[in-house]
Amino acid sequence: MKKEFLTKSETETLLLGESLSKHLSKGSLVLLYGDLGAGKTVFVKGVCKGLEVPENTYITSPTFSIVNVYEGKYKVYHVDLYRLDYVDEAEIGLWEYLEDGVVIIEWADRLGDIKAESYLKVEIFYINDNSRKIVISGYGELQELPAKLDKDNL
Ligand SMILES: Nc1ncnc2c1ncn2[C@@H]1O[C@H](COP(=O)(O)OP(=O)(O)OP(=O)(O)O)[C@@H](O)[C@H]1O
Ligand SMILES: [Mg+2]
Repeated sequence: MKKEFLTKSETETLLLGESLSKHLSKGSLVLLYGDLGAGKTVFVKGVCKGLEVPENTYITSPTFSIVNVYEGKYKVYHVDLYRLDYVDEAEIGLWEYLEDGVVIIEWADRLGDIKAESYLKVEIFYINDNSRKIVISGYGELQELPAKLDKDNL
């Protein structure tokens, strides 16, 4: 199922990511979609906060690498595929990462067919300078997760 949210500030998007993180564990896969500046990295920061990644950890879209790893309650593999045209899940080592922690991928549209059985899709749409529409869809075992989310209810 899917659920739609409207966030009216960067902080609200952060809170939504934090709220989502409460339902993630080792092996969870989160795919992020949205244009440049949509708020994907902001969402990742919220997820990291919720997963107890230390506040002083610098969280940014990996620029010179494809993946950043943060240490929190679980390991968080933060992948950004922007600079790639097309990539296969195996090529980025997705399966190894999933065995080891939570994986969150910016520009997931660069991936071909998603072979993972369970994952969350987070689509972020620019509405205006401060507002974004965020559509969260669950697949496989994570199918019912979106219904449990509420950014106002952390
Ligand atoms: N409601 C909102 N949610 C998220 N970000 C917002 C919102 N309103 C304004 N912003 C601003 O939009 C920008 C989002 O930047 P961010 O780096 O998260 O985008 P991105 O999707 O990761 O882009 P890129 O594809 O370049 O990595 C920030 O400057 C943030 O302050
Ligand atoms: Mg980014």
